[in-house]
Amino acid sequence: MCGIIGYVGSKNNTELGIRALKRLEYRGYDSAGMAIIEESGLESVKVSGKVDKLRDKLKETDFKGTPTLFHSRWSTHGGPTRENAHPQFDCKGEVAVVHNGIIENFTKIKERLIEEGHKFSSETDTEVIAHLIEKFYDGDLEEAVRKAINLLEGAYGLAVISTKEPDKIIAAKMSSPVVVSVNEAGGFVSSDPAAIVEHSKNMIFLEDEEIAIVTEDGFRIKDRDQNVLEKEEVEIDWDLKEAQKSGYDHFMMKEMMEQPKSIKDSIRGRITDDGDVKLGGLDEISHELESLEKLTILACGTSHFASMVGKYLIEEISGIPVEVGLASEFRYRKRPYDKKEGFLFVSQSGETADTLKALEEVKKRHALTLGIVNVVGSSIARKTDGGVYNHAGPEIGVASTKAFTSQLSILTLLAVYLGRQRDLSKPESAKILTELEQLPKKVESILENREEIKEKAERYKDYEHFLFMGRRYNYPTAMEGALKLKEISYIHAEGYSAAEMKHGPIALIDEDFPTFAVCLQSSVYGKMISNVEEIRARKGPMIVLATEGDEDIKNHSDDVIEIPQTMEVLSPVLAVVPFQLFAYYMAVLKGFDPDKPRNLSKVVTVE
Ligand code: G6P
Repeated sequence: MCGIIGYVGSKNNTELGIRALKRLEYRGYDSAGMAIIEESGLESVKVSGKVDKLRDKLKETDFKGTPTLFHSRWSTHGGPTRENAHPQFDCKGEVAVVHNGIIENFTKIKERLIEEGHKFSSETDTEVIAHLIEKFYDGDLEEAVRKAINLLEGAYGLAVISTKEPDKIIAAKMSSPVVVSVNEAGGFVSSDPAAIVEHSKNMIFLEDEEIAIVTEDGFRIKDRDQNVLEKEEVEIDWDLKEAQKSGYDHFMMKEMMEQPKSIKDSIRGRITDDGDVKLGGLDEISHELESLEKLTILACGTSHFASMVGKYLIEEISGIPVEVGLASEFRYRKRPYDKKEGFLFVSQSGETADTLKALEEVKKRHALTLGIVNVVGSSIARKTDGGVYNHAGPEIGVASTKAFTSQLSILTLLAVYLGRQRDLSKPESAKILTELEQLPKKVESILENREEIKEKAERYKDYEHFLFMGRRYNYPTAMEGALKLKEISYIHAEGYSAAEMKHGPIALIDEDFPTFAVCLQSSVYGKMISNVEEIRARKGPMIVLATEGDEDIKNHSDDVIEIPQTMEVLSPVLAVVPFQLFAYYMAVLKGFDPDKPRNLSKVVTVE
């Protein structure tokens, strides 16, 4: 959600901070701010609006000091005003705090601090932290931060500077991510490795309740009992180019276009010549996986739709029964666990608060936990017993695209891996894997035809409602297609199983309510055609996603988008791409920035 950056060192702090913040802007972007310790004391600039506005304001300054904090905000407590932008300060303007998360008990703390005479100037929960540090400061900033966070309930990733100890940044973490890196350029703190990867690929990830003391040339990390910890650096395998737009207008377009490569990267080195799957991150738990009798997959958003496809894949290919759930709902269920049940957490960021909390819940029951995670070293990746990294490269656009197709590719690998531990024969496994390796080329051919999808967007841009429907493997694809459209172009869209239309939603259909139907050559082709005709009988405009060469489908639709033939189990990887493109073009035609949809954030670190 909010992006936090801290820097202590001798580089041009403001330009460096803005560059880092630009890379975090996708996390939240309704306001931004910075603070810096100058010789004259603590200075700050804050704006309501985007990071570029902050950059413009900073051009009017001549800051030279260090350390500095930067922040981009996704509002939780208090509107996106200048006053509520971070950093937040204490009464004397000596302490500055940037924060990602929510302090749940801030009202009580604030009331007490006001009684004690503290003056507040924002509506944020964060401001209490600055005042608590002021209250507890007695010559030791680290100790004051420790005392302050001991009183906090909720989630925080935070960075603190003070004029009293201007050689350092203190960072602390509870539930929200914080990484630290000290390299030739100086000491960095960030909520996301992507922001600071240009300076070093080696990062230290803080764990909950740890505190980092970061200076220009070193750092110490302590646990809650103040023991100094030896922590290993994690190497981030992204290069800076991957976190830039590289000539595309938007990250979303760049990331859609990268899919042939990201799918290849996700499966590279994981398919053996003789038709087996090798997943190094599962080696240590392979025996437990052999005896698994049930798998539950938990995730949020697009990752949840990928998981729904994963259920079909794993059940069909390996024979293991699979339950799929929203992580946010799962946590609050009073649910019996099966003895030989494993849990799989699917998350691009590896930091989604609900998924992380569900994982913590499952760990309390000592069940086997696995992850499919894109961000190396992230919390979910660290906390699971085993897992598979996507290697899809950084995904910056809020609307997930390449992470989804990468997740589907890895879920296929996992299904085959589990299948080979059971009854899946080598020829069957080889057939799926050979076709999986063909997908990058096929995705590329869909992307090459993107002008055709753009024309469709132009034709349909004035409709206010859309239905997406599919069955079996492409029921989740329909859900994902609807999500893409609503999240970036703000058009009402419903994703449904085509079979369920008769149980209610068909009542909505008329000539102003177009439907996208995933009607590929598959086990449900005939049934889909019936569902398509039911809609057409009610005058609903029909756009069909069909398999290349299907001539008959033209008799059942107003518009056809063709995609290459593939196996049904792999078809969502192809079917979703036209939906991604359609949503993108609709957003752009309507004048919206698809990378920064209103009210949304890429990494949802609050529950
Ligand atoms: C947010 C993002 C989505 C993403 C979801 C789950 O809502 O905007 O793109 O699918 O979080 O995120 P995760 O990082 O756990 O996959």
